[in-house]
Amino acid sequence: MEFATRTIHAKQPSEAETGAVVPPIFQTSTYQQEAPEQNKGFSYSRTNNPTRQRLEQVLAELEGVSHGAAFASGIAAANAILQAYLRPGDEVLASKDVYGGTHRLLNQVFNRWGVTIHHLDFSDLSAFEGTLNPRTRVIWIETPSNPRLLVYDIEAISQRAHKQSALVVVDNTIATPYFQQPFSFGADIVLHSVTKYLAGHSDVIQGAVLARDSAVLEPVRFLQYSTGAVPGPFDCWLTLRGIRTLELRMLRHAENATAIANTLKAHPLIRKVYFPGLPDHPGHDIARRQMSGFGGIVSFELNGTMEEAKRYVSSRRYFALGESLGGVESLICHPATMMFGSVRQEARQERGVSDTLIRLSPGCENRRDLLEDLCLGLTEIEAERKVGSSRAR
Ligand SMILES: Cc1ncc(COP(=O)(O)O)c(C=O)c1O
Repeated sequence: MEFATRTIHAKQPSEAETGAVVPPIFQTSTYQQEAPEQNKGFSYSRTNNPTRQRLEQVLAELEGVSHGAAFASGIAAANAILQAYLRPGDEVLASKDVYGGTHRLLNQVFNRWGVTIHHLDFSDLSAFEGTLNPRTRVIWIETPSNPRLLVYDIEAISQRAHKQSALVVVDNTIATPYFQQPFSFGADIVLHSVTKYLAGHSDVIQGAVLARDSAVLEPVRFLQYSTGAVPGPFDCWLTLRGIRTLELRMLRHAENATAIANTLKAHPLIRKVYFPGLPDHPGHDIARRQMSGFGGIVSFELNGTMEEAKRYVSSRRYFALGESLGGVESLICHPATMMFGSVRQEARQERGVSDTLIRLSPGCENRRDLLEDLCLGLTEIEAERKVGSSRAR
C-alpha cells in the first residue's frame, strides 16, 4: 500500500456497528466490565482508549513498524523514552543542536539523576565513535534538526552505536514519515512531536513513540500508563483526521519551502539559508540518500541587526509570529528571543543560534503570496536603512 493510501486506509476500517467511514471518538474515561478481570480489552482510558489505540496503530504503520504509544506532548514522549532507558551512571550522546526543549530535558532534568549528557557534532563520525563507550545507553538524533535543519547520517550512526549496544532514538518531527523512514536505516525508536506536521493544523499538542520491537516499546508503554501523560481521545481523533492529508500537505510545504529557500539565497540581505535541499547545505548528500524530499522548514540569517530581525518577524502579512511549526498556516519565529530566550548569548551562539536567525514554517498557502510577503519585508529593511543613512548625512 502506498504512503497516501496508508494515511487513509491503514488500520482505519469503517466503524463496525454503523459503517461510519469516520471513526467515532471514544470520549470515555472508563468501560463497563462484564465481570471482574473480564472486559473487551479496555478498562480505563489512562491505560488504553480505542481512539488513542487507533492513532497509535496508524502512526506505527506510517513509520513501517507495528508498535506505538501516544503521549500528551512530544516532550512527554521524549521523557518516557529517557526515563525508560536511563539509569544513574549512564551516558547520552545527543546531537549538538537538538530542539531546545529536548536540550533542557536532558541537561536540567536527567543530569540531576546522575546521567551524563554529551552534545556532539554528529557529522564528525570519528568524534562520535571516540565518545561512545560501554556506559553510552542512548543516542539521540534529531535530523533534520530544529531550527538549523542540520542533517545526520542515521545509518552510519546506528551501526556504530549498536556495536556498543546503545539505543538509537531518532526525532523524526521535521521530516515526518513521509520524507524519512528512520527504521529502514537502523533506528530503534522514532519520536514525534505530533503537534507539528502529523496533526498539521496547529490545534493539538501531542507526541508519539514508535518501535519495531514490542520489547523495545514495552518499558515506554509501562511509563505511559504509570506516569499518565496521555492524550485525550478528541485530540487523537483530530490527529487521525490531520494524517489523512499528510502527503498532500507535505508536498505543498516542501514546494513552498524550496521556492522560498531559492529566492532568499539570492537576496543580498540574507547571509545564510539553511535548507537541506540546497546543494551547498553541508548535509545535502546525506539528505538525498536518506530522505525522499527535503521537508518544509527553511531558516535563514539576516545580514543585519537583531532589531531588524525582530521587526521583520513582527510585520509579516501571512507568517504569524509564533512558536511551533508544521501547520497549514505559515509561521515565523526568531529563535534567539523565543525558543532560546532563556539561554545565554554565548551558549546560544555555540549552538549556532545567531541574533538574526529566523525560522520559517511555510504553510499551505499560495507560494506567490508567501514569497511576496517575505521579499516585501526585505525591501522595507533596505528602505529603512536608506532613510537612516540620509538622516545621518
Ligand atoms: C524537533 C522537536 N522535537 C520535539 C519537540 C517537542 O514537542 P512538543 O512541543 O509537542 O512537546 C519539538 C517542539 O517544538 C520539536 O520541534
